[in-house]
Amino acid sequence: MKTLQDSFILKNGVKIPCVGFGTWQTPDGETAVMAVSEAIKTGYRHIDTAACYGNEVGVGQGIKASGIEREKLFVTSKVWNTERGYEKTIAAFEKTLSDLGLDYLDLYLIHWPASSSQYDNWEEINVETWRAMTELYKAGRIKAIGVSNFLPHHLEALMKTEVPPMVNQIEFHPGQMQTETIQYCRENDILVEAWSPLGTGRMLNNETLKSIVDKYEKSVAQLCIRWCLQNNILPLPKSVTPARIKENTAVFDFAITEKDMDTINAMAYCGGSGLHPDQVDF
Ligand SMILES: NC(=O)c1ccc[n+]([C@@H]2O[C@H](COP(=O)([O-])OP(=O)(O)OC[C@H]3O[C@@H](n4cnc5c(N)ncnc54)[C@H](OP(=O)(O)O)[C@@H]3O)[C@@H](O)[C@H]2O)c1
Repeated sequence: MKTLQDSFILKNGVKIPCVGFGTWQTPDGETAVMAVSEAIKTGYRHIDTAACYGNEVGVGQGIKASGIEREKLFVTSKVWNTERGYEKTIAAFEKTLSDLGLDYLDLYLIHWPASSSQYDNWEEINVETWRAMTELYKAGRIKAIGVSNFLPHHLEALMKTEVPPMVNQIEFHPGQMQTETIQYCRENDILVEAWSPLGTGRMLNNETLKSIVDKYEKSVAQLCIRWCLQNNILPLPKSVTPARIKENTAVFDFAITEKDMDTINAMAYCGGSGLHPDQVDF
C-alpha cells in the first residue's frame, strides 16, 4: 500500500481503499459534514458509519459537499442490534440509504452478533439477518457484505450460506490482538478491519509505543495506523480535527521494522473498550 487510494481486494473482487475514515461519536450536523468532506478532500476514499452512530444524514451531506463522484468513494454502514432478522434488516437498509442520500452501499455489516447470553436462538437470528443482507447483495444494492464483532463461533453458521461474509470489523489496536478471530478470518478469506485503531485515543500516551515511535519521526497515531496496515488489517481511524485527519494519512512514507512490529504485536493488554461480543447488554 503506497497511498490512501490503494486497496485491499475482497474475495468477490471488490476493491476497498486501505484506510477507512471512522465516524463513531462524530456529532451529526455541521461536525459530521465538515469532518467527512474534509477527509475526502484530504484523500480518504473510504468512509465508515453506522445507523446507530446517528449521523448518517450528516455523513451523507459531507459526501455531497466534498463534490466527489459517488463511484470513487467506498461507503460502509451497519445494521444495528434492534433491527436484526430478515424484514427489519431490509427496512433498516432502506432507511440508511435514504439518510445517507445514496442509492447503493459499498459494504453493509451486521454490527454485532446476536449471542447466547441474549437469545437461545441466537444463531438462527444471525442467519435470518444474513439472509436479508445476501438478498440485497444479490440485487446489486450493496457491493459487498460482512459482519462486525463476530468471533469464530458466530461466523460458522454464516460460512455455510450461499454468500459467506467478506469482511469482519473488530476491535484491533496494540494489546488487543484477537489472534484466534484473525486466524479464522485469514483461513476463510475474510478481510479484517480494525475499529478503534488508536484505542479511541487510549494508545496515544502508551509508554512502549512512545519509546518506539521517536526514531521514525512520526506520531503514535501514525504508528498505530501503519502497524495495522503492516499486519494486513484495514484501519479505520476517526477524527473531527482537520490537522489530525491529515496527520493520520501520512503513513505511507515510513516502514516499521520487523523487530518493532514483533514488539508491538507482543504487547500485553493496555486498555480497550472492554466490550465482549458474547457479553454486551445491547
Ligand atoms: N464496529 C464497531 O463495533 C465499532 C466500534 C467502535 C468503532 N468503530 C469504527 O472505528 C472507528 C475508529 O474507532 P474510534 O472512533 O474508537 O477511534 P480511534 O480512531 O481509535 O480514536 C479516535 C480518537 O482519537 C483522537 N485522534 C484521532 N487522531 C488523532 C491524532 N492524530 N492525534 C491525537 N488524537 C487523535 C480523536 O479525537 P478527535 O476526533 O477529537 O480529533 C478521537 O478522540 C469509529 O469511528 C467507527 O467508524 C466500529
